[in-house]
Amino acid sequence: MYARIAGTGSYLPSRVVSNADLERLVDTSDEWIHSRTGIRQRHMAAEGETTGDLAFHAATAALQAAGVEAAEIDLIVLGTTTPDLIFPSTACLLQHRLGANGCAAFDVNAACSGFVYALGVANAMVRGGQSKKALVVGAETLTRMLDWGDRSTCVLFGDGAGAVVLEPSEEPGIITTKLHADGGYKHLLYNPVGVSVGFKPGEDNAGVRVLMSGSEVFKVAVKTLDRIVGETLEAAGMHESQVDWLIPHQANLRIIEATAKRLGLPMERVIVTVDRHGNTSSGSVPLALDEAVRSGRVQRGQNLLLEAFGGGFTWASALIRY
Ligand code: UT7
Repeated sequence: MYARIAGTGSYLPSRVVSNADLERLVDTSDEWIHSRTGIRQRHMAAEGETTGDLAFHAATAALQAAGVEAAEIDLIVLGTTTPDLIFPSTACLLQHRLGANGCAAFDVNAACSGFVYALGVANAMVRGGQSKKALVVGAETLTRMLDWGDRSTCVLFGDGAGAVVLEPSEEPGIITTKLHADGGYKHLLYNPVGVSVGFKPGEDNAGVRVLMSGSEVFKVAVKTLDRIVGETLEAAGMHESQVDWLIPHQANLRIIEATAKRLGLPMERVIVTVDRHGNTSSGSVPLALDEAVRSGRVQRGQNLLLEAFGGGFTWASALIRY
């Protein structure tokens, strides 16, 4: 038994913030941002618009594409680092709003790998017979925890959400998923504020904001993604040439290009949204997947390689016959 993707959906807030807008906030330039990251613009949630709102719109679109009623959903796994509340989970808030009350619902916090982690967990539950219709979401409002005076981070992130509906299938489906973490890298990418540390800004007095050693993260990300791509293909018993589409986490175009090169894939076979979305953390992979499906590029029967890397560090992949 496999889990197959029955439908995809996504949502971006309507407000667009360009690099030129950011030039008015911090000492940066469109030239620097675009040449170092590939980003031209990002979307930003409106005041009062939450991660749960973004997740709801993405989930509704995925349910519609799958032809599945919310009441049929028996599992919701939602990847996010920016939940609406400390508790209940954003998955529980989403469940009630959709009218899927009673089913299992929980969040997964794996930073930018959140969606691929959620997909791995839901895949195991569908394959194990514990779910017949699973909703998997990646949703974030990262712009809510940025320091808008810090040019090294505020230009990188955006808000957005994507979702898929999984159902059992005798044919693949999700062929394999790989999930990894190494908490030894916490200091390179984190937000120092939390409940149990007493809501204090941390020893470096940093406040509620993303702290990142960008170039260190970059180097580990490239090496780690190189490794996980090989590991995933080996587990699936597949060769690089059998991958039809790379659907990577959208943090930096240069990281994406390095992974594509490792796979021997031309950039025409890589789904890129970072130019328009920025880094939407858990939202990035399902947003890219939905865009690729709706544009007609990704077709049924093709092999998709999804990968992500984020704070933790966490890294994860999924090889899918769509
Ligand atoms: O999604 C989770 C995982 N996250 C990632 O994968 C992000 C990985 N890291 C990156 O994408 C890149 O490291 C960044 C885009 C964050 C930075 O690019 P970089 O080429 O590694 O630049 P850098 O951090 O080494 O900084 C180079 C210079 C510095 O100036 P000096 O020290 O050389 O004078 C920075 O102060 O660029 C400066 N700089 C900026 N200049 C203009 C940093 N941010 C900016 C900015 N505008 N926004």
